[in-house]
Amino acid sequence: MVKKVSVATVRAAKEQDTPLVMVTAYDFASASICDEAGVDIILVGDSLAMTVLGHSDTLQVTVEQMAYHTLAVAAAKPEALVVADMPWMSYHLSVDETVRNAAKLIRAGAGAVKLEGGAIRAEMIATLSKAEIPVMGHVGLTPQSTNMTGGFKVQGRELNQIEQILLDAKACEQAGCFAIVCEGVPEDVGTKVTEAVDVPVIGIGAGRNTDGQVLVYNDLVGLSNGFRAKFVRTYADSYADQTKAVANFAEDVRSRNYPLEAEIYS
Ligand code: KIV
Repeated sequence: MVKKVSVATVRAAKEQDTPLVMVTAYDFASASICDEAGVDIILVGDSLAMTVLGHSDTLQVTVEQMAYHTLAVAAAKPEALVVADMPWMSYHLSVDETVRNAAKLIRAGAGAVKLEGGAIRAEMIATLSKAEIPVMGHVGLTPQSTNMTGGFKVQGRELNQIEQILLDAKACEQAGCFAIVCEGVPEDVGTKVTEAVDVPVIGIGAGRNTDGQVLVYNDLVGLSNGFRAKFVRTYADSYADQTKAVANFAEDVRSRNYPLEAEIYS
């Protein structure tokens, strides 16, 4: 996929058996890089609470912060579809508040929103869809539930969990989701979820058989310097490279090796 990606393009990918590529981005630079690399979907993930703002979970980020980062991503004018995460507590209280909060993300430049949970959020998903706001669902490991689940734990190891995840995916589809993220489940559960619905399922730590894959930008380019989940494949060592670059600059300044004659205005 190269030209402007729409919700319809994403939906059609499943029928065409074209794997979907989604990567998170949080600002103009990372969005420009993702778009030039040809990803289909840029997700302004609430993971920015951790990757950009340094919190230990995703619960601390607000709608205003999500809108701010969505604006920066949209400024890159990407061909990719921009999906913005609805943060915790922005879609839990009432349908009115849910639509108003989603509208803030759409006005900031998103083409769709993502929210976590299935059956329990079906009313919100249906109302957003009626308000012409495309919704991406998110089932399996849902990071905003960390206080209920006791941390970022692989889901779908027990039969009752598998049944709930399948029920959630079907509820997302029935309520109007155009795609669903399935996170942190054994491969056979990822496969079952993918087979259970007609909309694309984009996996993260959900095995090889989903309709697409998503990774967090900082993990993919090696900008994270801490815990790395088993499913993460790192394609660059940006943390080390950038640390070295800044250290080299510091050394050059201290040894009066910067700026040189070619780098000054005469
Ligand atoms: O916020 C995020 O980065 C996400 C992905 C893990 C899918 O929701």
